[in-house]
Amino acid sequence: MVGVFDSGRGGALAVTTLHRKLPRADIAFFGDFQNAPYGTKTEAQLITLIQKDVDRLKTVGSVHILSACCTASSLIHKLPPSYRDSCFSIIPPTVNVALQKTKNRRIGVLATLATVRSHVFQNEMQKAAPDVLTLEIPAQSLVTLAEGGKTDKDDVDVKRACRLCAMAFGTFGMDTLILGCTHFPLFSGALSSFFPNVSFVSSVEAGVCAFTETLSEDEKNGSGKLRSLS
Ligand code: DGL
Repeated sequence: MVGVFDSGRGGALAVTTLHRKLPRADIAFFGDFQNAPYGTKTEAQLITLIQKDVDRLKTVGSVHILSACCTASSLIHKLPPSYRDSCFSIIPPTVNVALQKTKNRRIGVLATLATVRSHVFQNEMQKAAPDVLTLEIPAQSLVTLAEGGKTDKDDVDVKRACRLCAMAFGTFGMDTLILGCTHFPLFSGALSSFFPNVSFVSSVEAGVCAFTETLSEDEKNGSGKLRSLS
């Protein structure tokens, strides 16, 4: 059984995406709603939570686990090897897709406070393409809205939060924006009005796509069971 975890709704979106791509894979999902949001936690708190998430998924036999959370993915390299080796980070595939898309070599990143603090996107980008300019902006308010069920593009609070995100990029002038939190693709509709002529890269889509390529034929061809763990 393939495992997926996140702090909340972003992970659910990843499960839907994974199930759409691999309808016969058996998938277990652990959404750590009790400890959400992750983006405001310290590094030490997050490392403890990630290990608990992985342990929970291992109890149902998950060997390959998708960290459907950019905040958690930013810390996978700091986990003990037994955890690190079973977790798939969605950061590198997201960066790769963004690099394929950008023409003007300016890439924006919207992420949680913790992800921005880690500079994981900027660092990955620097390694892969040192000529690319990256600007990372925290958008923790979007997580709060998503967890509260507010994602409608016409909602006044959603519009205000998206406008503030756009203003934070100022005159940076990117042509590509990474939705570097798995909750944020839920706001694609709302964000698109405030980022004209900018291509979005979904960390969910990029991460899930790359993850499917790492799975065995047996993992891809189960009975299509979906299990949500508490
Ligand atoms: N969806 C998660 C991420 O991709 C975490 C959001 C949060 O709980 O702050 O970073």
